[in-house]
Amino acid sequence: MSQSSQTTAAEAKTGPTAAERFGIVERPVLEWTPEIAEETEPLYQKVKDHIPRIEWPVYAPYVAAINRLKKERNAVILAHNYQTPEIYHCVADIVGDSLQLAKEATKVDAEIIVQCGVHFMAETSKLLNPDKTVLIPDMKAGCSLAESITGADVRLLRERYPGVPVVTYVNTSAEVKAETDICCTSSNAVQVVESFGVDRVLCIPDEYLAQNVAAQTKVKILTWKGHCEVHERFTAEELLAYKEADPEIEIVAHPECPREVVEIADFTGSTSGMINYVKDRKPPKVLLVTECSMASNIASEAPEVHFVKPCNLCPHMKRITLPKILDSLCEMKDEILVDPAIADRARLAVERMVNLKH
Ligand code: 13P
Ligand code: SF4
Repeated sequence: MSQSSQTTAAEAKTGPTAAERFGIVERPVLEWTPEIAEETEPLYQKVKDHIPRIEWPVYAPYVAAINRLKKERNAVILAHNYQTPEIYHCVADIVGDSLQLAKEATKVDAEIIVQCGVHFMAETSKLLNPDKTVLIPDMKAGCSLAESITGADVRLLRERYPGVPVVTYVNTSAEVKAETDICCTSSNAVQVVESFGVDRVLCIPDEYLAQNVAAQTKVKILTWKGHCEVHERFTAEELLAYKEADPEIEIVAHPECPREVVEIADFTGSTSGMINYVKDRKPPKVLLVTECSMASNIASEAPEVHFVKPCNLCPHMKRITLPKILDSLCEMKDEILVDPAIADRARLAVERMVNLKH
């Protein structure tokens, strides 16, 4: 992740670090004992189809240590739907899509939020919880969309299109959010675009999301050339080949996919929208056209569904691991700080979205 789109601790430092405020605890000894085996067995049952029993003794001591330390520290773990099954099912307190995590972040009681997801998600939590400590287990967990645009780019767009409202996908840095009117996620983009009641809106930076929104509204959408490096790889050709091989397969796609992919999908929605569709409809076979871990995460909750997985992984989401979560809680790192010069304006853009009536 480039330094330009990320507020470093040094830039936004206003006082003692999280480690100084809360203290560092030594990493516990990680042993596979009969007590750990018993304590973690109910959690193992949730991930047993993804983690071989023989490997559980490696995971379980981390799971137990994280859950214990989380309580001692009064911390809560927010995890995105793309996190690996052992994070999603065994240590997360709240899971969801970007909008759900942003909303949940406003209700958190705990003093510390550990964000298992990518940097912009942690930054959004910090914007909505300026007085809480927000940690991300790996500061390098970026996002190709967030990297595709800067605040200066948005200022140039405003000069080029004066008076046109700017809707920014939540997958952006705080610096970019600060330059925009309102944020959106994949689950509310159409509603947000239409909320202005005007005939032209800039919807940035995801070109494909913008095209997919444009197909659902009369509002003329202007956009940017940003793409998600995971979803841009799917092709209509590839999906039609699956469908030809097995016409029973339902195709469920994320709106960050190219337009021609979305056009052949049976359903398109945010990560949680996709999950709900599968859980409600229970198609016998489904191809989730999105990050690979999501199918693993919901498989145990939809056992009657057979998931066909074209396995595209998000390398940024996969930077978050159990050992890094444990280190994060022990050493109170990496702390998310937002430059006060941009925080208030960026917060406003997120709050306008969160407060939008559904
Ligand atoms: P959702 O808002 O649908 O969870 O998407 C976030 C994301 O990063 C998808 O790639
Ligand atoms: Fe960003 Fe794509 Fe990864 Fe989502 S899946 S975090 S949009 S790179």
